[in-house]
Amino acid sequence: MVRNVASLLPELEDQDFYLLSGIEQGMRFSEWVQREKLPKFSGLTPEEVEYRLERCLKRGFVEKKTIQYEGYTLQFEGYDVLALHALVERDTISEFGAPLGVGKESDVYEVRSYKPLALKYHREGYTNFREIHKERDYTADRDHVSWMYTARKAAEREYEILEGMYPDVSVPRPIDQNRHAIVMEKVDGVELSRTKLEESQVTGVIELLFSEIAGAYEAGYVHADMSEYNVFVNEEGVTVFDWPQAVPTDHENATEFLRRDVKNVVGYFRRKYPQVVPELEVDDVAASIAEGTFDSLD
Ligand SMILES: Nc1ncnc2c1ncn2[C@@H]1O[C@H](COP(=O)(O)OP(=O)(O)OP(=O)(O)O)[C@@H](O)[C@H]1O
Ligand SMILES: [Mg+2]
Repeated sequence: MVRNVASLLPELEDQDFYLLSGIEQGMRFSEWVQREKLPKFSGLTPEEVEYRLERCLKRGFVEKKTIQYEGYTLQFEGYDVLALHALVERDTISEFGAPLGVGKESDVYEVRSYKPLALKYHREGYTNFREIHKERDYTADRDHVSWMYTARKAAEREYEILEGMYPDVSVPRPIDQNRHAIVMEKVDGVELSRTKLEESQVTGVIELLFSEIAGAYEAGYVHADMSEYNVFVNEEGVTVFDWPQAVPTDHENATEFLRRDVKNVVGYFRRKYPQVVPELEVDDVAASIAEGTFDSLD
């Protein structure tokens, strides 16, 4: 698990960020950035680099390794603090709050500006990164920086998709993105998986979900990871989140993913509310969504 770095932000100084972003730049070329190159990458004097390195090592933002040379690399904590700092600097975020969800591929926290928002740090590549660290041989280079690249790409992708769909589809409103982090509107509600619906509500909620799936399709996307864990329910309806893996509707497997998403929804409701789920054919629903003719379940 990656530590929450927000509480460290007040004690950091501009030069700490120069050093961290210097290392970040150096990591485009190799995972372990040579100490001698840090003044150039960071714009700091060698003395300043030394002092800043110590501060950043102590806080777990960077790691040091001496192989053929003395090298430094960013940790997720260092990458988090860079993203957080950038978002604070441009006034996207003013306060940091409690965790909203800790998944295997992300950490989500409540943050605030003039209203409550959610900050999602993408962690794609994190597991791999750990395994690589355990077993790799120290001379290999290219793959290692991939955790940073993978997480950033996932965030960029999710942000772009949210922008493409909001407000036509019920998704969290996208606010800002930096590196592997996205900021979006905080959605109030309860995960579908933890909701106990009245029998009379079941068909309505299924219908709402199909409408959102249809809306997303119309906007050009298939979610491709639709489940009771990626849907929030509240009085106003449903909100679907977690979009980095979504595929465009012209993707060669889009129809298959769409069918699977519909099947997941139907399967979940059949298991949880066996008495009340209406008769419906997954294939027919998926086909009507793809044709743009889905309207309601009757
Ligand atoms: N905008 C938001 N508002 C409120 N809570 C959110 C928001 N975004 C995410 N969350 C909470 O954080 C949890 C994790 O978010 P999300 O589903 O996007 O990523 P993930 O579950 O880590 O990804 P994966 O499903 O691939 O593991 C959600 O289940 C939800 O509880
Ligand atoms: Mg999720």
